Formats: sequence, structure tokens, C-alpha cells
Amino acid sequence: MNIGVLTVSDRASRGEYEDKSGPAIVATLREFLSCEWSPVVRVVPDERPLIEAALIELCAACGLVVTTGGTGPAPRDVTPEATAAVCDRLMPGFGEAMRAVSLKSVPTAILSRQTAGLRGTSLVINLPGKPAAIRECLLAVFPAVPYCLDLIGGPYLTTHDTVVKAFRPKA
Ligand code: MTE
Repeated sequence: MNIGVLTVSDRASRGEYEDKSGPAIVATLREFLSCEWSPVVRVVPDERPLIEAALIELCAACGLVVTTGGTGPAPRDVTPEATAAVCDRLMPGFGEAMRAVSLKSVPTAILSRQTAGLRGTSLVINLPGKPAAIRECLLAVFPAVPYCLDLIGGPYLTTHDTVVKAFRPKA
């Protein structure tokens, strides 16, 4: 099973600084998941057409796609718009849950417009660009991710229960 990891950053895409958030997503998912999976990693600048093209490509190959960056209020932050444009339906609960958890540690969490959505049988989740936000945000929503993928006909994810327990309501 493939999982897409998309870093959206002008500077990381130009090589001006090392992308720390994409690798943090991969490391966090390695910690969470007990099933076999492979990351498919992409880095793009904060340009809507490029973000949308990367999301379309990743959703074609991956049941889960996690983005980082471009969720704030700055003019070039357009990841939520790109996500909404390529998704059939939005899943606003993901953004709400991540902001609620993050607000306990940082007041500027309210500045993230991060969302999530469904494209076919793939789930796209936006995370902020800060490396420190990655694990905190994923931990907040991940218990619901495997069941979401079950419901949309995506891949069957299993987790290390001691780290994060997947919640699957009894069928
Ligand atoms: N969420 C967490 N958990 N930790 C953080 O440090 N930073 C916030 C917010 N969410 C932050 C966070 C800040 S300062 C901004 S501007 C927004 O995410 C958007 O960040 P982005 O544009 O890099 O996605």
C-alpha cells in the first residue's frame, strides 16, 4: 500500500532549506502503522496548479495522502484551496480536530485553514508546515483514519495500538 506525502513549500522546493516536515510525516506514520506501506514523496512550491497536479497524481496511487504546508493566511498559502478543488467531498472534522488539539499548545494554531477531503477512494489530509505540528496533528485524527478508509473503499490500515488505536465501530 502506498501513502502519499506532499510537502508544499516555495523554499523547500527550491532547495533553500531542507524539508523537515515531509520526513516527519513519514517517520510518524512508520511509528503509527503496523501494516506494510511505502511512502510516495513529492515536494512542490505554493502554486495551486502544481499542488493540484501532485494531489491528483498521488491520489491515483495512494489511499491516503498527507500534505504539509501552505495552510495559513499568507497570500501564497493555497493548499486548502487546491485540496478542495481536487476532492469530491470535504471532511471538515479533520481540520476542526487538529486545530482544537493544536490550540492547547500554540495560539497561532487558529491561523491554519487545514482541511481534509475525499477524492475517489483516497483520503487527503492537510497538516501545517511546522515540523513540530506533524505528530501532534496526526495523533489527533489518526484513530478515525482507518475506518474512514474502510468506508470509502480504500486500503485496510492497521496501527500499533500502544501508539494510536484505530477506532472501528462494530459492524
Ligand atoms: N499547529 C501546530 N500543531 N503547531 C504549530 O506550530 N503553527 C500555526 C498553525 N498550526 C502551528 C500549527 C501557524 S504559526 C500557522 S501560520 C498555521 O499553522 C499555518 O501554517 P502553514 O502555512 O505552514 O501550513
